[in-house]
Amino acid sequence: MKKVVILKGNIVHTPEPKGFQCVKNGYLVAVDNEIQGIYQELPKEYGGQPVTDWGDALIMPGMYDMHVHAPQYVYRGLGLDMQLMDWLNTYAFPTEARFKDPEYAKVYYRAFAQALKKNGTARAVVFSTIHWETTELLMDILEEEKVGGFAGKINMDTLSPDFLCEDTEQSIKDTRHWLERNINKRKLVKPAVTPRFIPTCTAEVLKGVGELAKEFGVPVHSHISEDIGEMEIVRGRYPEYDNDGAVYDHFGLLTDHTVMAHFIYPNEQELKLVRDRGVTIAHCPQSNGNVAAGIPPIRRMLEMGIKVGLGSDIAGGYSPCLFRAMSEAVYLSKLRWLQSGKEDDFLTIPEAFYLGTKGGGQFFGKLGSFEAGNELDALVIDDGSLSVELDELTLEQRMERVIHLADDRNIIGRYVAGEKA
Ligand code: GUN
Ligand code: FE
Repeated sequence: MKKVVILKGNIVHTPEPKGFQCVKNGYLVAVDNEIQGIYQELPKEYGGQPVTDWGDALIMPGMYDMHVHAPQYVYRGLGLDMQLMDWLNTYAFPTEARFKDPEYAKVYYRAFAQALKKNGTARAVVFSTIHWETTELLMDILEEEKVGGFAGKINMDTLSPDFLCEDTEQSIKDTRHWLERNINKRKLVKPAVTPRFIPTCTAEVLKGVGELAKEFGVPVHSHISEDIGEMEIVRGRYPEYDNDGAVYDHFGLLTDHTVMAHFIYPNEQELKLVRDRGVTIAHCPQSNGNVAAGIPPIRRMLEMGIKVGLGSDIAGGYSPCLFRAMSEAVYLSKLRWLQSGKEDDFLTIPEAFYLGTKGGGQFFGKLGSFEAGNELDALVIDDGSLSVELDELTLEQRMERVIHLADDRNIIGRYVAGEKA
């Protein structure tokens, strides 16, 4: 028997970045997790099927967190008066070392997965730590909480503290072992190779994981051109390349199955390279401000046809809620607009919504909007607490207010891969 899901409510999505498409009191129909369409009247063929009526609530696509560090959930909201490299040494590395212990990992990975779920994240691209055993645990927990996506055991074998530094050969061996064990083990959560960033990875490890990504057909996830200090290290180590992208490309790590966080300081060649390879950029506005990394040229990337999604980058960002990332993407782009002498146009609200839904969703499959043929990931938003009853807002205005002001308390329903989750 085919599984028919029919949701009734105020349906809002962005098939294109230029504007919201809204249907008031409409029906969203999916059969076996394939969206059939959005209808003002329910087509006759679905008569007699159960309809979930969400009343005056908003129904929107699920949100996609394209870059987040699961172990850093431990210290979210702490230490954000530091700059990136100091912050990594003081907070990230000592905390991540504790994830060798499964008892410790179990508690925090559960809290992390539940936070993503509660905040409306349908799928995510997740960093764990260098430990493959607890990475497996994280994948199990994400699957149980119905947060889909990719998780990755980190590689780091140089310029890292002794307590969190792998032997080069062991790093590659462990990654292979972990890939073999987890490649086809779960429905929603799959592995991605995750070299932390160029400074903490030797050439051997970058080459090794590039080959593994190809062999196993899995995505690549890392950080690119995030910070001046980081980039100076990379230029020093690879003087023959003048940008991070060229180094990653040399090791076969830039493909249309790659997601790279930040891209704050790309040069012209690097922008073209990333576009031509089909890489997705994870824009993490809250983190970019918090660790004083900088303001990326997102408008430029979009104009060039580079794929962009949004990330929370917990714990560079303190909030797992991607409404914050949408709101702050616009905010940060305005600071860039001012800083550029009003040259670099800022983002619009529908564009930010697009980045947080379809922009990232595309990385996981046919996801992120309610176009016919797509899979069904959806959120149901009760925005009643955000408006006074006398307000008469359009659906666009209601969604705009949700982006700035809603939090997990406004999310009253969640569907992932065509099922209530
Ligand atoms: N670069 C390398 N590691 C990290 C990390 O944990 N967070 C951020 N924001 N950047 C990084
Ligand atoms: Fe990060």
